[in-house]
Amino acid sequence: MSDTKDITILAIETSCDETSAAVVRNGRQVLSNTIYTQIATHKLFGGVVPEIASRQHIMKIDGVVSHAMEEAGVGFDGIDAVAVTYGPGLVGALLVGLSHAKALAFALKKPLIPVHHIEGHIAANYIEYPDLEPPFVCMVVSGGHTHLVNIKSYKDFDILGRTRDDAAGEAYDKVARVIGLTYPGGPQIDKLSDEGDPNAVVFPRATLEEGSYDFSFSGLKSAVLNYVNKAKMKNEEIIAADIAASFQQAVIEVLTDKAIRACKEYNSPILALAGGVSANRHLRAAMQAACDKNGLRFCVPKPVLCTDNAAMIGCAGYYEFINGNTADMSLNAYPGLKLGERM
Ligand code: KG4
Ligand code: ZN
Repeated sequence: MSDTKDITILAIETSCDETSAAVVRNGRQVLSNTIYTQIATHKLFGGVVPEIASRQHIMKIDGVVSHAMEEAGVGFDGIDAVAVTYGPGLVGALLVGLSHAKALAFALKKPLIPVHHIEGHIAANYIEYPDLEPPFVCMVVSGGHTHLVNIKSYKDFDILGRTRDDAAGEAYDKVARVIGLTYPGGPQIDKLSDEGDPNAVVFPRATLEEGSYDFSFSGLKSAVLNYVNKAKMKNEEIIAADIAASFQQAVIEVLTDKAIRACKEYNSPILALAGGVSANRHLRAAMQAACDKNGLRFCVPKPVLCTDNAAMIGCAGYYEFINGNTADMSLNAYPGLKLGERM
């Protein structure tokens, strides 16, 4: 049994193509974080195939939970609650984790905690920095979402801006395909751009209206596509590394400029970065440099906590739990759950 003061949460995450389970104590101490990634399977199809994702989750979930429990070494009677991602994500994928979490909560007679996937990404920063507390500004860049958020407390936040079309990760993945890289493109562009010149091609930076914190990446994606098609028509050599580095530079500049401006406007001494794209080495370095220049503290989780994992769900779940947010067995999956929405 855990100490009465401690709260130990078993967390489950299956919103996309990672099957993950974790045991997290008091929101910050990760006792285990088992991640089974389906990337190798989806790579064959150039992207995540929802039906295959659901089936793989079904095959793996039991083993992943057992592994996380074994590694944590607390035993099921040491678990105080079960947290689970209930949206946003692929509906079939979400339902696998949700059903498993419900069954566990029911059998263990423990509370079920609904967790928003994006709030999980933000919470990964609390794991990385045990002293980090709100308020701070957080830039969330994942495969499906791009949000600039003013985190006011563990419960309250304001969305300052969001993407109006493609998410940053989506743009990475689509551009990667155009220059012949495989899925997921983000990590490959990250690597390939080491060899490229970020100033080789000047792609558009969509800043939108004056003062807006919204983002738009579809124009940039089309610009890369047009550039490649034109070069092919003219039989010109395409230097993929230069395109990767130049595309990435355009993304980084817009994300960094807006995030720093938000910190200044909202008097935040801290800028945090979250979501799968925050594993990007060039983005991390650019944000660190911009924060240093502006006298801000920069926070970003280690890469394994940036991409999908259940530890971040256990952390966010802890704050939901201590704020009294639990669900009953009627909890459903919400593929389109918006940031800030509660079901
Ligand atoms: O947060 P995440 O794991 O899943 C979602 O919630 O969407 O993010 C996945 C996204 C993918 O688009 C992937 O290409 C991107 O994160 N990503 C990266 C890197 N690692 C993952 N993008 C750029 N550079 C990386 N190193
Ligand atoms: Zn994610």
